[in-house]
Amino acid sequence: MDRFGQLALDAVSKSFGPTHRRHLAVDGVTLEVTPGARIGIVGESGSGKSTLARMMVGLDAPSAGSISFNGVSLRSLLRLRASRLELRREVQFVAQDTTSSFDPLRTLRDSIRVPAQRLAGLDRRAADERVDATAVMLGVSPELTDRHPGEVSGGQRQRLAIARALVVEPNLLVCDEVVSALDVSVQGSILNLLKRYCVDRDAALVFVSHGLPATAFVSDRLLVMRGGQVVEHGPTSTVLHSPTHPYTRDLLAAFHGPRSDTGAGVDAPVALPLPRSQPAPA
Ligand SMILES: Nc1ncnc2c1ncn2[C@@H]1O[C@H](COP(=O)(O)OP(=O)(O)O)[C@@H](O)[C@H]1O
Ligand SMILES: [Mg+2]
Repeated sequence: MDRFGQLALDAVSKSFGPTHRRHLAVDGVTLEVTPGARIGIVGESGSGKSTLARMMVGLDAPSAGSISFNGVSLRSLLRLRASRLELRREVQFVAQDTTSSFDPLRTLRDSIRVPAQRLAGLDRRAADERVDATAVMLGVSPELTDRHPGEVSGGQRQRLAIARALVVEPNLLVCDEVVSALDVSVQGSILNLLKRYCVDRDAALVFVSHGLPATAFVSDRLLVMRGGQVVEHGPTSTVLHSPTHPYTRDLLAAFHGPRSDTGAGVDAPVALPLPRSQPAPA
């Protein structure tokens, strides 16, 4: 399989529930992700962000519309084991819920080493070294990886979930609420790390969160979702400075109060997640 070049979503929808009570979780989303793009998807809880993210990585199938990777339908790539593994090497996903994303019976190291060996093709020793290096990069002591998932803090487990995705060195990383459970003090360093990872290797990032400041900080394009639909989509700075949809204006106002004449409040969400960088009072 060629290196990641494009993930294209064409009028993708997902509905849940029995036919007489169909509920559209995602409603006609069209989106293109290319190398180096950092796309933020923001919206309130229940707006369909996780469902969209899961479909992007093939964990959920769309009810309507299509998704293609480098021009080939995701569905057909997932059908065969060989192309499924190659897809996993290119595209990694960090899920919202880290308690269920690690096998409770295995040490964290074992869980992180598996993709390093199976997908990145490293031998055991090299895989262990990469586990150590990646844990350190995420600010977690390598010794902690010898514990089981229930024996570390939620924040440590969250960072190791990111580590497990990064050991594969994916060219597209899809993150669902990955900093939402972290202390503000570590959020900034994780966001910086994700950004630098993408810039350094021209990888793409899809960053999903209900938190506007973090999403705006990592992204160069921003999508605002509401009720399963993308209500606003544009360069992050444009969306922040001249939102067109009333809901986006509400989101912005909720984070830093009514917009001031100086526009100082508009910059606040970008600065908020960074340690030592306090937003201007609204
Ligand atoms: N597996 C599922 N079965 C039924 N409904 C679901 C399922 N997953 C999500 N939903 C519903 O779809 C909507 C969008 O959910 P979700 O994608 O998790 O939103 P978000 O991540 O933005 O909070 C919600 O109304 C949610 O209850
Ligand atoms: Mg979610």
